[in-house]
Amino acid sequence: MSRLLSGIKPTGDIHIGNYFGAMRQFLDLQNEFENFIFIADYHALNQLQDAKELSKNILEIAKAYLAIGLDPQKVTLFKQSDVPEVTELAWIFNCLTPIAELQRAHAYKDAVAKGSPINMGLFDYPVLMAADILMYNADVVPVGADQKQHLEMAQDTAKKFNKVFGEVFKVPKERILASVATVPGLDGRKMSKSYKNTIGLFDSEKDVLKKVMTIKTDSKGANEKKDPAADNIFALHKLFATPEELKELERAYKEGGISYKESKELLGIRINNFLQPIRERKLELDVNEEKIKEILVAGAKKAKSEAVAMMKKIREKIGVEI
Ligand code: ADP
Ligand code: TRP
Repeated sequence: MSRLLSGIKPTGDIHIGNYFGAMRQFLDLQNEFENFIFIADYHALNQLQDAKELSKNILEIAKAYLAIGLDPQKVTLFKQSDVPEVTELAWIFNCLTPIAELQRAHAYKDAVAKGSPINMGLFDYPVLMAADILMYNADVVPVGADQKQHLEMAQDTAKKFNKVFGEVFKVPKERILASVATVPGLDGRKMSKSYKNTIGLFDSEKDVLKKVMTIKTDSKGANEKKDPAADNIFALHKLFATPEELKELERAYKEGGISYKESKELLGIRINNFLQPIRERKLELDVNEEKIKEILVAGAKKAKSEAVAMMKKIREKIGVEI
């Protein structure tokens, strides 16, 4: 069975962009692969340095994974930091990675462009991510489009190590679904925690209805013809409507039979219908946090045994085992 691996950083509330871009694939593929899904807490540390907040976010992601329907019997769920071997491997990869390559990384270039303070963790982010992926010999890594460059860097790292020290690593493949590669946020930019333009996976019904009313549109009036391809509300409908509902909506847009306000109200209802069962499962998990911790401990044990065996091989290859 091929192996699938992916992770999400616990840097804030999980949103529907994370769900459709990444998590939904974990769910759809859980029966087809051997799965390793983790919480990238050491990755979060470069931007989130508040212990209470980080602990809270870690639990939230674990709840999100379980609330959407990941089955711990089929998926090894764990915290990145419970397998510290991964930071050891990141060091080894650091020694193979040219600085110039990391200087070309989008996340780093964005931080430079914004004049944000940059710590070594941010600069080195793709190297730790390569270690996450290669440590567990992943065949497939499902992510959103913004992670493509990181995946390419992991592929390059695998090839480079294999060339320098001999074959150890598989070259992993990314899996990016074109239809949901970038879910737009309320303001039309990519939905992202950092833009505060998100609809949260655990948002209340009321919050969802309030947020959808703030989606930016052009100023076309109720009866004017509208271009579905140029509208943000429509782009979000695509994620929640059935094909028939979408066809009907497209017709109404093109004929000028629906106002943006009506389209937003309909979207709010559709999103809430979709989120309702997830919210209900989250409530059950809120009163069962001990169980969640047990799942993570069991996952860490399995992931760690893989990592220890892998590190033994790697240490031999690089020559530190004498
Ligand atoms: P954020 O941008 O909110 O900080 P993350 O970087 O933590 O989100 O992303 C976690 C996962 O969700 C990644 O695989 C990423 O590609 C995916 N993702 C995040 N935002 C979106 C989006 N708007 N559309 C599609 N996928 C997304
Ligand atoms: N960089 C990913 C993100 O920002 C999170 C991540 C860390 C990850 N390590 C990974 C994703 C390994 C896939 C595989 O969302």
